[in-house]
Amino acid sequence: MQRLLDHQTQANSDISTLDTPFLADALAGLSAGRKSLPCKYLYDERGSQLFDRICELDEYYLTRTETQITADNAEAIAEAIGTGAVLVEYGSGSSLKTRVLLDHLQAPAAYIPVDISEEHLLGTARVLQNEYPELDVRPITADFTQGFDMPQGLNSERTCVYFPGSTIGNLEKHAAIRVLRLISEQIGSSGGLLIGFDLQKSREVLEQAYDDSLGVTASFTLNMLRRANRELGADFDLSQFEHVSFYNAEAGRIEIYVESQCDQSVTIAEEQIEFEAGERIHIEYSHKYTIPGFAQMAESVGFSQRAVWTDDDNYFAVMYFEK
Ligand code: AVJ
Repeated sequence: MQRLLDHQTQANSDISTLDTPFLADALAGLSAGRKSLPCKYLYDERGSQLFDRICELDEYYLTRTETQITADNAEAIAEAIGTGAVLVEYGSGSSLKTRVLLDHLQAPAAYIPVDISEEHLLGTARVLQNEYPELDVRPITADFTQGFDMPQGLNSERTCVYFPGSTIGNLEKHAAIRVLRLISEQIGSSGGLLIGFDLQKSREVLEQAYDDSLGVTASFTLNMLRRANRELGADFDLSQFEHVSFYNAEAGRIEIYVESQCDQSVTIAEEQIEFEAGERIHIEYSHKYTIPGFAQMAESVGFSQRAVWTDDDNYFAVMYFEK
């Protein structure tokens, strides 16, 4: 935590010594013909808090539905995972759904939350460790799309990757398959994968979930620019950009952008970026699957489906795979 704060202070005071992955990715993304910023940078401390608020919105059914599915089927899920597993959670965030699982798992050997947002991760890991004093909690700060080393000295060989929250939906299909392949390698022949993803449904329901009436999602999207201003010394005028989102039914995904409201230029680390009125920066995709479509993707990297759980409206699915 201290390291992170030092880093931010430094970013504010001396741009020339700044050399962060965010800066490199932002410059690359904004100098391309079609501008983009990687959605993983939405989750700084403020962004993580805004996302937690999104999860409580009436319109944002995903989190509440997945939590309900997990709670309603906790015993069957725990039974599928089996005794003594190491639970590795990808993109753990605030670990909201994890407690339900931890409460039902039989003698879990360890819980390893993996997240890119270090401060948030360490904070929630601490809280969980207090709530589950018997459990071996070992947080890892990492971008799970890049792979990471597992901690040493775990007292079990059986790994179950828990990948909830429809986070896999952020990835384009080729990248989603790549992560599934990484997971498949990580769990070896005896492990499992418990994964939650959002299902295709009516445009109205989907579009409201990503453009709520309180404007929390808009603030979440625009926080990307705020973060660039704070950490990279950029000069985005936040009043001259707007959150835009829509369902692309053909591609089966919500697409989220910030749209420039006028012709303007923005400076980041001495680079000048030009925007035309109406020009967009791509921020995020959120893919929506069908159950057979998702199963097919998982099967293409060696998984076989063991169980699927959904809600009464078929809004969301939780699936369990083994090799
Ligand atoms: C964190 C990937 C599940 O795609 O629904 C919510 C992120 N973006 N509102 C999603 C998000 C805007 C979210 N996931």
